[in-house]
Amino acid sequence: MFSADIYIERRKGLRADIQSGLILFLGNQESPMNYAANAYPFRQDSSFLYFFGLDKPNLTALIDVDEGTETIFGDDLTIDEIVWTGPQPSLQEISLTTGISKTEPSNKIKPSIDKARRQNRTIHYLPQYRPENTLIIAQLLDIEPAEVTDNVSETLIRAVVTQRSKKSPKETEQIEIALEISRQMQIAAMEKARPGIYEKEIAGVMEGIAVSRGVRLAFPTIFSIHGETLHNIGCKNLMKEGDIAVNDSGAESPMHYASDITRTIPVGGKFTQQQREIYQIVLKAQETAIAAIKPGVEFRDIHRLACVTLLAGLKELGLIKTSPEEAVEAGAHTLFFQCGLGHMLGLDVHDMEALGEEFIGYTDKIKRRMEFGWQWLRLAKALEAGYVLTVEPGVYFIPELIDRWSSEQKFSEFINYNKVEKYRSFGGIRIEDDILVTDNGCRILGPKIPKHLNEVEAITSK
Ligand code: GLY
Repeated sequence: MFSADIYIERRKGLRADIQSGLILFLGNQESPMNYAANAYPFRQDSSFLYFFGLDKPNLTALIDVDEGTETIFGDDLTIDEIVWTGPQPSLQEISLTTGISKTEPSNKIKPSIDKARRQNRTIHYLPQYRPENTLIIAQLLDIEPAEVTDNVSETLIRAVVTQRSKKSPKETEQIEIALEISRQMQIAAMEKARPGIYEKEIAGVMEGIAVSRGVRLAFPTIFSIHGETLHNIGCKNLMKEGDIAVNDSGAESPMHYASDITRTIPVGGKFTQQQREIYQIVLKAQETAIAAIKPGVEFRDIHRLACVTLLAGLKELGLIKTSPEEAVEAGAHTLFFQCGLGHMLGLDVHDMEALGEEFIGYTDKIKRRMEFGWQWLRLAKALEAGYVLTVEPGVYFIPELIDRWSSEQKFSEFINYNKVEKYRSFGGIRIEDDILVTDNGCRILGPKIPKHLNEVEAITSK
């Protein structure tokens, strides 16, 4: 974890924003896979990590904004538990590492909350995404589980989002540590993806790299020769000559900051001419989008720019009949690029998404568009220095979508369906990097990861 003063400062900022009441943060519990002692790898809640840094299960924190006190609730291990786990630092010891000296056993949370409620004080808490934490909040507040969501604190959400959105240099350093592991994962995939190998073998090699560096994946690996399925996580296919594989993967840093990188690689060593053409279009869209990133620019405009650039390239290949701007305005680009250009990145791969996408990516003035394609744009608002986000355009030929729209002649004034038909078994290409918005522009984070056609082929064709 960082030094205690960082967490102390963050909580000070939070108290200033919230102004009065109590702030209740639930850490995560162990989550059983099939019985209590056989749990999924523990992952702490990201906001708990951000404000307290304590990477252990079964902790709760209560900040009394009016009194200026902070308490960590938890239980020291019994001797029976130590027999199985070995010795562990005490609650008092771990609390001091985050700059908090007041600790209480877990069974003292409810009386503290009850007392505050009797005094009609506001108890701020964040949206919950784990059922067990929803039940705990319901029990602490004597409300039904279904009411937990209704009572979340928008003031707290906004305060947390404001702080977590802007990454400090120490945080981007963590993301860059994660990116170095991602680089190794990507290179290994380029070296090993060959005809006759299953996707899962490559996914396994990449996960092994993360685990052997003492960390875990930031999200389930998407490694697929069916890259047209945006989140294809099965990894079941046998790769063959001529396939291209989308490799969207990332590791966490030891402090749980995420990396998220996509490269698309030719399984047989070299891209075909058709693949090269689409690859160059996606790459140009990505580079054009990145070049336009700077504080003050709305990300929805960067998204639109990427879409126009994609369609300009597809027009040269004859797939688009009109001006790319007109086609994007109408929404015709969503036959090829169905999702958003990117998302915030930090302690979560979709950073802070559990707090509600509208708070992360939108504002009171910039509302989500609900049309197909646009509805999956996670980030639309103006960028600020310190934001870290992904830029990940793609071109995806989804046979089911092509068939549906071509039979309806949807957007037929913009799209040349006869030409599109020649790509129906193409798959997809996505290229993604992680970007820091700087005072004057932006910077691609992390070490260089082969991206241009010749750089990728130099490894895949070895
Ligand atoms: N890289 C996976 C995602 O952005 O959802």
